[in-house]
Amino acid sequence: MRTKLFSLALCACSLFVNAQQKPVYQDETQPIEARVKDALSRMTLEEKVALCHAQSKFTSAGVPRLGIPQVMMSDGPHGVRAEINWNDWGYANQTNDSITAFPALTCLAATWNPEMSALYGTAIGEEARYREKDVLLGPGVNIYRTPMNGRNFEYMGEDPYLASVMCVPYIQELQKNGVAACIKHYALNNQELWRGHIDVYLSDRALYEIYLPAFKAAIEKGGSWTIMGSYNKYRGQHACHNEQLLNNILKRDWKFDGVVITDWGGAHDTYEAAVNGLDIEMGSYTNGLTSESAFTYHDYYLANPYLKLLKEGKVPMSTIDDKASRILRLIFRTAMNTKKPLGALCTESHYAAAREIGNEGIVLLKNAPVVKKGNPLLPIDASRYNKILVVGDNATRMLNQGGGSSELKVKDMISPLAGLKAIYGDKISFAQGYAAGRPMYGRADEIAPEVEDKLRAEAVEKAKEADLVILVGGLNKNHFQDCEGGDRQQYGLPFGQEKLINELQAVNPNLVLVLLSGNAVEMPWVDKVPAIVQGWYLGSMGGYSLADVLSGKVNPSGKLPFSFPKKLTDCGAHAFDELSYPGDSIKEEYKEDILVGYRWHDTKKIPALFAFGHGLSYTSYSYSKPMASAKVMNADGTLTITLKVKNSGSVAGKEIVQLYVGDDKCSVIRPQKELKHFTKVALQPGEEKEISFQITADDLKFFDEATHDWKVEPGKFKAYIGASSTDIRGIVPFELK
Ligand code: GLC
Repeated sequence: MRTKLFSLALCACSLFVNAQQKPVYQDETQPIEARVKDALSRMTLEEKVALCHAQSKFTSAGVPRLGIPQVMMSDGPHGVRAEINWNDWGYANQTNDSITAFPALTCLAATWNPEMSALYGTAIGEEARYREKDVLLGPGVNIYRTPMNGRNFEYMGEDPYLASVMCVPYIQELQKNGVAACIKHYALNNQELWRGHIDVYLSDRALYEIYLPAFKAAIEKGGSWTIMGSYNKYRGQHACHNEQLLNNILKRDWKFDGVVITDWGGAHDTYEAAVNGLDIEMGSYTNGLTSESAFTYHDYYLANPYLKLLKEGKVPMSTIDDKASRILRLIFRTAMNTKKPLGALCTESHYAAAREIGNEGIVLLKNAPVVKKGNPLLPIDASRYNKILVVGDNATRMLNQGGGSSELKVKDMISPLAGLKAIYGDKISFAQGYAAGRPMYGRADEIAPEVEDKLRAEAVEKAKEADLVILVGGLNKNHFQDCEGGDRQQYGLPFGQEKLINELQAVNPNLVLVLLSGNAVEMPWVDKVPAIVQGWYLGSMGGYSLADVLSGKVNPSGKLPFSFPKKLTDCGAHAFDELSYPGDSIKEEYKEDILVGYRWHDTKKIPALFAFGHGLSYTSYSYSKPMASAKVMNADGTLTITLKVKNSGSVAGKEIVQLYVGDDKCSVIRPQKELKHFTKVALQPGEEKEISFQITADDLKFFDEATHDWKVEPGKFKAYIGASSTDIRGIVPFELK
């Protein structure tokens, strides 16, 4: 008996000791850096190099011998993309990967509400976690420099401060699910034409003041665990292995401790990739875009060619240890993180989030009465109409399809027509009005003129009998529209919509135009159309969001994250020569420099048709005179600007109050004003709230090229309080000592 007890005790003891001897890298009670160090010490050189490149279309390797898992990546910024085949670019056509499509990021930016960004990150994070992804390839924050960029719909507008504030909560909440964000595309991927090689040149001021801030915020405030290098070049070197962007700015100055991942095919040189801060090479054109047979993944720049340079001593071993450490850190934060929540898919809360973000992002651009002294056309009061005609391909089109890598396979998709029918029932009839073809990659859709004429004639005929017409048009996700891989080929509405608008309005002036798009468009017909709504790409619950706003169930509160130039040449990027946009096919120079968007319109006194920050409501808001806490502020002090905002109308609403700062006199050119603070305030009818903004010296700085550092010059400044960048409700002069 005694021996039995003894052997039991011995066994228990050895079990206990074994449990204690779990290797450090597997022990989640250990500090992550100790785990990284321990794992690294156990790995061969070959195993370390294997971490640094793709092993399939959307995964990179782990360390099978040590039980360190592979890294599972997936697009995209608006929802978790359907599974792609392991070794080719086709969809796997699985039956378990239909998801929630959330509104496009231009819509999220248009909410001007960081709470919506947090809601977005939570919901998309749960879906990415449930789909067992370690990296979600988004959000995108490339600055909207030209309305011709095919991918603006995936980004957060023309202003670096708005994009900075609106991307951070999304990243923070997403990563709470144990899924890494991948802020993209770093940097200067501001067009799709020649994106794979165009060599961008711009001043340091423009780089630091306009194009870097959102990435800096994503890293320093959002804590993004990965970042995606862009396809283009910057000053002669590919962004995916660019010494200035990666080694100096990202890793040295911003102290980024995560992983730099190429855009798919963004690596072009082994030596540069080794020494200039690239960590994982995905989808390279050396082979990964075709099939395993022609070349294996071992031929990637950061695969055998890199191993060879290391063994020959041509690149320092420190480069591979840095890369492998970062990738191990990522794996411990994600794939090996056993504390991760479980995630969820297509839940009511995700649908509610998609709907709420859409509701808060839709922008009411114009809402005029049809006849003098009449009521504005919106909201649509069901009791006033019997026959409402809905027109437009976009009223029924599945706009989650197409657009490139951000396309999604949805479980549910409420179209605008379905959303409107849910409210107005059989008062609704439909006419397609125009056709846009299928979202085909690589070619613009040509619709036969006779088809276009027939559809238009049918819609116009029906419009004669209707009390009200709602045209749901805009752009779509076809190539050369709002789509990756190509830029738009015209600034005006495509597919014969301009003719359709003119002919519909001629037979029925009660015309509401809803634009579903991610870009500004030319509006030669703007004076004819009494009500115009910028509806974005709204995702799975889009039809409900649109109907909520058009019916008045929800009072629109979104404001534009980018300007609508009257004509293309009113936009800074198009005010110069071809070299400024789209470049000469080799090189491009951002000649408008820091004057992007409203900075151009304000400073050059070229008013936009609809201004950055513009958005109407079904109520009205009055602003009191803004007051400053002092007339003079010190460089280390703050200046408080206070005002009251009142809902002077009859319906509850949310108002976005914006604070811009202008530097009257400076040794360098500065925009007339720049967005530095904003807040969104909910107000019941008649309710008034006090709002205050704290201005600090940081809000007054510009990037000084002489010292390559931020600088503020004492002198006179102005604080502009605006309901938009042009609807200025108060100006407070102050001085910086
Ligand atoms: C694409 C896109 C990028 C995407 C990646 C994977 O080319 O530029 O945004 O995440 O490749 O699909």
